[in-house]
Amino acid sequence: MNAPAEHANLARQHLIDPEICIRCNTCEEICPVDAITHDSRNYVVKFETCNGCLACISPCPTGAIDSWRNVDKATPHSLADQYSWDYLPDTTELDQLEATVMGASELPAEVQQITEVATAGQGGPAMAPWSASHPYVNIYAPAAPITATVTGNYRLTADDASSDIHHIVLDFGTTPFPVLEGQSIGIIPPGVDEKGKPHLLRMYSVASPRDGERPHYNNLSLTVKRVVEDHEGNPTRGVASNYVCDLKKGDKVQVTGPYGSTYLMPNHPNSSIMMICTGTGSAPMRAMTERRRRRMDRKEGGELVLFFGARAPAELPYFGPLQKLPKDFIDINFAFSRVPGEPKKYVQDAIRERADKVFRMLQDDNCYIYICGLKGMEAGVLEAFRDICRANGADWDALRPQLLSKARFHVETY
Ligand code: A2P
Repeated sequence: MNAPAEHANLARQHLIDPEICIRCNTCEEICPVDAITHDSRNYVVKFETCNGCLACISPCPTGAIDSWRNVDKATPHSLADQYSWDYLPDTTELDQLEATVMGASELPAEVQQITEVATAGQGGPAMAPWSASHPYVNIYAPAAPITATVTGNYRLTADDASSDIHHIVLDFGTTPFPVLEGQSIGIIPPGVDEKGKPHLLRMYSVASPRDGERPHYNNLSLTVKRVVEDHEGNPTRGVASNYVCDLKKGDKVQVTGPYGSTYLMPNHPNSSIMMICTGTGSAPMRAMTERRRRRMDRKEGGELVLFFGARAPAELPYFGPLQKLPKDFIDINFAFSRVPGEPKKYVQDAIRERADKVFRMLQDDNCYIYICGLKGMEAGVLEAFRDICRANGADWDALRPQLLSKARFHVETY
């Protein structure tokens, strides 16, 4: 997510919208580095002093503070400019580079790194679908996290299942924490690491829709698997996942974010969604499916197709309840890899079984594709797409950049 070389001089300048600002002085009081000042006309931000800590963002009563423009580092908007404004300057072509520049200048380093690895399988930078809602990103920085209260922690996998996956509900009380389906949050485990440093944040995809795990509550849910072994299968104890899976009702949790400005669902009528996931990669799929389910009576059309890989039915996070959804609402295709007496089946096998439908959806400009889960699954799924295209006289390698340029292809694997 680093800025491309030709835009190496770009910076994201923090500004205050003079049209909306009510001049309440909250931001100036709260800024820990004295980057905000004012005259009798406007509140302004000193470009050289602002360190992007975002401490001012959530206390602002109007949102005027959450204003940004991409500028050349050498020629930012000066204080004299800002004092003279009645309106913010128009956005420019530079502002189209939002995703890359924001990542380079503001997102916590660990979020940039995780995102870069997770989205590598897309084959290039993604954009949000044109009809996606506008996401709020990075409102709470690690230096100023929001405190959430745990209001639920339920084990999702059966008692005799080999994996321990939890559904965690976090409540934000009266503090704003807006999220969209497909976004992630950061959780900072308490305590310090073996070097005595505070733990870095860990990112988790939100599993609930934008209006809350419980509709119209200021809460959200996460799907977290207890990590008990490393990638090689050696016993280990994942610090954050064990902390989260052991949380009790009423516990307080330090949360950052939200993160993610492209892995977002389309909102226009007749838009279709193809979802491909393994294990806890089902979190964003649950969020999108639940969003659509809550609006089912609007009959907005568009297909939902899910390919979901898990070891066995007892290991499935969610979708037990969702299996009861009408077949004309969602087309669910499971792939179980460890059911005794049955051959191992992966999501890519299920995708191949539905080749005709998958090819039709790949060709449909109204269909948006989301992949989330194990990194190992990515190559198999892309190979299945390649074979399905070839069998239909098309070329996956030519199609993939087109999907990306139309914001139709989204990958998050880890
Ligand atoms: P497997 O039985 O081979 O581990 P997990 O439960 O570890 O999160 O994994 C979720 C599902 O993803 C399991 O069914 C697992 O199968 C499967 N999986 C593992 N590796 C791959 C892969 N390379 N491609 C597709 N699915 C995979």
